[in-house]
Amino acid sequence: MTDRLILGIESSCDETGVGIVRLGPDGALELLADEVASSVEEHARFGGVVPEVASRAHLEAMVPTMRRAVEQAGIALSDIHSVAVTAGPGLAGALLVGVAAAKAYAAALDKPLYGVNHLAGHVAADTLQHGPLPKRCVALLVSGGHSQLLLVEGLADRITEIGSTVDDAAGEAYDKVARLLDLPYPGGPPIDRLAKQGNGCAIAFPRGLTGPRDSKYDFSFSGLKTSVARWVEKQERAGEEIPLADVAASFQEAVADVLTAKAIRACKDLGVDTLVISGGVAANSRLSGLAAERCAAAGIGLRVPKPRLCTDNGAMIAALGAHLVAAGAKPSPMDLSTVPGLPV
Ligand code: KG4
Ligand code: ZN
Repeated sequence: MTDRLILGIESSCDETGVGIVRLGPDGALELLADEVASSVEEHARFGGVVPEVASRAHLEAMVPTMRRAVEQAGIALSDIHSVAVTAGPGLAGALLVGVAAAKAYAAALDKPLYGVNHLAGHVAADTLQHGPLPKRCVALLVSGGHSQLLLVEGLADRITEIGSTVDDAAGEAYDKVARLLDLPYPGGPPIDRLAKQGNGCAIAFPRGLTGPRDSKYDFSFSGLKTSVARWVEKQERAGEEIPLADVAASFQEAVADVLTAKAIRACKDLGVDTLVISGGVAANSRLSGLAAERCAAAGIGLRVPKPRLCTDNGAMIAALGAHLVAAGAKPSPMDLSTVPGLPV
């Protein structure tokens, strides 16, 4: 069998992504193009993603992003073997733009269409950098929209959610705390930078859902955010200066502590020796640092893809599409619908 080129289209949130992956006869993946157009700056003044704004931006960016990806890969669109697209979960209007584009390309090129799950795509992203996954692994998916612990026994159709956030996603907590501290949106990078100058043990912020009767693998970040708000208010009322770096570092420590502790506990309980961390928050320096320390101590292998592959992109969707093609999965019907609340 010859090489097959898989096109991946992502539009579930504020990133318009087009990726092209070469699937070799032995199942090996090679990333040929990864183009992303982000509307994040258009959302910054609102402090979060505005769905209408995101949909319009996808509509404007889709074709130019596709052109850039095809050029970057040095291929002709007609060389594509199949088209993969995020069908959910995500923002309804944003998903529609990507799925409509994917259908148009698949129909015009007369190629199979694969509607895929965005969350599985985040896990698949790691295979572009670190090769095939072991038979079983645990994935910690942390971004602005999701915070989940997954047991991955096959990218095509064997991913089970074992835990998730009961309120805010980890990235959402970063964004909300950044707002509270008058830092720009998205809040992860500025908090990460500021935290490097602070002491993570300075303030004992709560670790959500870590009591003996709490769910073992679920997360909660809204109490932590409220606790940061209360602490800052109290300082202000007392006329004290806010030690911003210590607040950022202590908040970051609380998030990293809970995420890594629960992920490693899941690995141990399930007898799994590999942890994958993906999603925008995987770029966090304390999260990856603490995960590396704790995984090494527990004899667990850690895989964290580079930040560009962790945040939303089309390459991860192309990678997942390639795994489906390699597994002989059935293509989706041309009337494929979007599923904003699609579970993993
Ligand atoms: O995966 P992503 O690009 O988009 C989705 O939400 O799907 O993730 C974006 C989130 C934002 O909430 C952002 O604040 C967070 O990832 N983030 C970080 C860092 N870089 C991005 N959070 C903590 N530390 C970082 N270095
Ligand atoms: Zn995502």
